[in-house]
Amino acid sequence: MASKLIRISPSILCIDYNNDDVLKVALRDIEKAGANMVHLDVMDGKFVPNKTFDHKLVNKIQDMTSLMLDVHLMVKNPENVIADYAEAGADIITVHYEACKDPIKVLKMIKDKNVLAGISISPQTPALKLSDILKTGLVDVVLVMGVNPGASGQTIIPGSAEKVAEIRDMDKKVYIEIDGGVTLKNSSILRRMGANIIVSSKAIFEAKNMRKAIKTLKGGGFINKLFKDI
Ligand code: DX5
Ligand code: ZN
Repeated sequence: MASKLIRISPSILCIDYNNDDVLKVALRDIEKAGANMVHLDVMDGKFVPNKTFDHKLVNKIQDMTSLMLDVHLMVKNPENVIADYAEAGADIITVHYEACKDPIKVLKMIKDKNVLAGISISPQTPALKLSDILKTGLVDVVLVMGVNPGASGQTIIPGSAEKVAEIRDMDKKVYIEIDGGVTLKNSSILRRMGANIIVSSKAIFEAKNMRKAIKTLKGGGFINKLFKDI
């Protein structure tokens, strides 16, 4: 059974998001196929080598969809841009632990804007680094990177599911979002370890049947019967 408690957040990173027609079709398609939000990967060319888009595109997307806007900031010193993304319509703003001088201060800034606050850890950052931050009660979402941030289409790094489990052990209530290298096949173990927001770019936008792919990522569909133990 596909679980209603699992949220699917397709990332537009692998589509031609600068083309308005492509973007409109993609947003309409994911909404029709059962996505709960849209994942927006902001890269500044400093925290990660690649550069993508900024709050202007987020603002434009707000006018194109009624899906929640799940903004993943892969930017250095995110405190300087929180207000821009809140005003652009973000529902979730996630910043990187590695990119903040004072993560707690940045999470407070996000909450002050009435936006859900997320903190992300890259593969090299141990889950334990978040234990004090989780105790503040400021965190709505922990985003576990399954790959090194910066590009879609990479293979998940071993140990990512265990990292999800470690965080679930520390906090039973927080949303755990897994991002990078998620496939229809590995999504099952990630959910079982406690992930409840699943991000994917390629496994959704390159699927033959988007509706079926989203259903599978939610925990329903044929493939989950086949790969129960993976
Ligand atoms: C990578 C991004 C991801 C990316 C995932 O830095 O944060 O959101 O779009 O792409 P896939 O699902 O193709 O690995
Ligand atoms: Zn992302």
